[in-house]
Amino acid sequence: MKLTLKIWRQENANTKGKMVTYPIDGVEGDMSFLEMLDVLNEELINKGEEPVEFDHDCREGICGACSLQINGEPHGPDKLVTTCQLHMRSFKDGDTIVIEPFRAKAFPVVKDLIVDRSSFDRIQHAGGYISVNTSGNTIDANSIPINKHDADDAFAAATCIGCGACVAACKNASAMLFTSAKVSQYALLPQGQVEAADRVQEMVRQMDEEGFGNCSNTGACEIECPKGISLENIARMNREYMSANTKG
Ligand code: SF4
Ligand code: FES
Repeated sequence: MKLTLKIWRQENANTKGKMVTYPIDGVEGDMSFLEMLDVLNEELINKGEEPVEFDHDCREGICGACSLQINGEPHGPDKLVTTCQLHMRSFKDGDTIVIEPFRAKAFPVVKDLIVDRSSFDRIQHAGGYISVNTSGNTIDANSIPINKHDADDAFAAATCIGCGACVAACKNASAMLFTSAKVSQYALLPQGQVEAADRVQEMVRQMDEEGFGNCSNTGACEIECPKGISLENIARMNREYMSANTKG
């Protein structure tokens, strides 16, 4: 396949970026999107030009490091896949592909297609944990019965990989889907009850402090989420938040 890539290039957060056009040839359908960018970068390096910087780690859809807004969609046109799992067979010969970083005030550009998503880490640090009694008398987690539906919903929420596609898809750059998944994975389990009220208050406070927008129920986040995290988590987080505030 011959393609035309229009890629966002930006030196750092303090400089202006611009789209640069790169033609690319010999792209195979079974290449992943990131492998296609590897080929482009090899060509650029061979020509003595600066390679395009992009984020990745596992390349297996697990770590959440890869991002990329591809033709206006976070993680590209396929559903329930990350950019590293997107294959070039989803495009056709002669296509033009526009590649940009995830855009949000709380995700400043580091370079080219890499954004700083440490705001997500700070939301997690604000309350995404449980306290465990390590005195030697700890109850084995498996000995606490948990309703099957709650266990399934907690597990589904815990599959969030923190990629940030929900923020990039949202017109308000809201992080409600991410934060609610992290709140839900504990709120549904007995182990999460001790800090439940503080957790939701602190995580929502940090989310607002980082500059993410509010949720206006558009649902774009759920559609673009590579892990299928449900909007039900946002409703659960809102209930948890109201209940925590009522208790004071
Ligand atoms: S909720 Fe989905 S889109 Fe948002 S960070 Fe988690 S996995 Fe990524
Ligand atoms: S590189 Fe790890 S999810 Fe894509």
